[in-house]
Amino acid sequence: MFTHIDPAVRFQYTMVYLETEGRSTGRNAMNTRVNEIADGVYRLSTFVPEVAAPAGFTFNQFLVVGDEPLLFHTGPRRLFPLVREAVARVIEPAALRWITFGHFEADECGAMNDWLAVAPNAQVAHGALGCDVSVNDMADRPPRPLTDGEIIDIGGKRLRYLETPHTPHGWDAGLLYEETAGVLFCGDLFTQVGDRPALVEDDIVEAAITAEDLFGYSTLNPDMGRTIRTLAGLELATLALMHGPSFTGDGAAALGALAADYDRRAEARRTA
Ligand SMILES: [Fe+2]
Ligand SMILES: [Fe+2]
Repeated sequence: MFTHIDPAVRFQYTMVYLETEGRSTGRNAMNTRVNEIADGVYRLSTFVPEVAAPAGFTFNQFLVVGDEPLLFHTGPRRLFPLVREAVARVIEPAALRWITFGHFEADECGAMNDWLAVAPNAQVAHGALGCDVSVNDMADRPPRPLTDGEIIDIGGKRLRYLETPHTPHGWDAGLLYEETAGVLFCGDLFTQVGDRPALVEDDIVEAAITAEDLFGYSTLNPDMGRTIRTLAGLELATLALMHGPSFTGDGAAALGALAADYDRRAEARRTA
């Protein structure tokens, strides 16, 4: 399935530039869908047909509403107008307080400074290592460095920062877990191509294995399976994927199956 995707257009942002600059590509203009996938947790999803064509690819951000609203992933810089408009359907964008992401990369944090500009009280919060190696320099205002397990209490919701170094990629990689609703914001874990409903209950592991075969986006490392299995110990109601649907079902089993597949890959590479 999807083996005919042209590697040259996998993560090509050209179409994103054209669309957001108002230069028609002759295709349907992109739009960002907004769905509440858990109490007070909104998925903002932009489907880009030209990325990983012909399957297409979703870029998702998550807005967590509380006294101090929090955004997980900013989206690429070029998507900022669409994402800001999507946020505005839920809260006043200027009211955003926390800007968070999994690791330093364009789709995770490309619009970080655009958000800092429109939200005067907003602050980036990221792992301490990522602040040291990238964000302290790249962000227009000083970030809040987070330690493993640290809580961001946004009033009504509690986000726990979890370090996942090099998993699936990025020295500074980490995830957020919302304690009250049991939502794990998975970042690039379980990445899949295509466009599906906002919330699904059926298997997400097979599609993730297919996408890993296609892209090879993960940094295979001996700790990867263990890192993912640690996440399976959380109380999980919803897995919120950055590139794919959100999933309600047996999250621990899905994480366990994904971990097993990465163990298999790492072992195959080690013994190759
Ligand atoms: Fe990434
Ligand atoms: Fe991503």
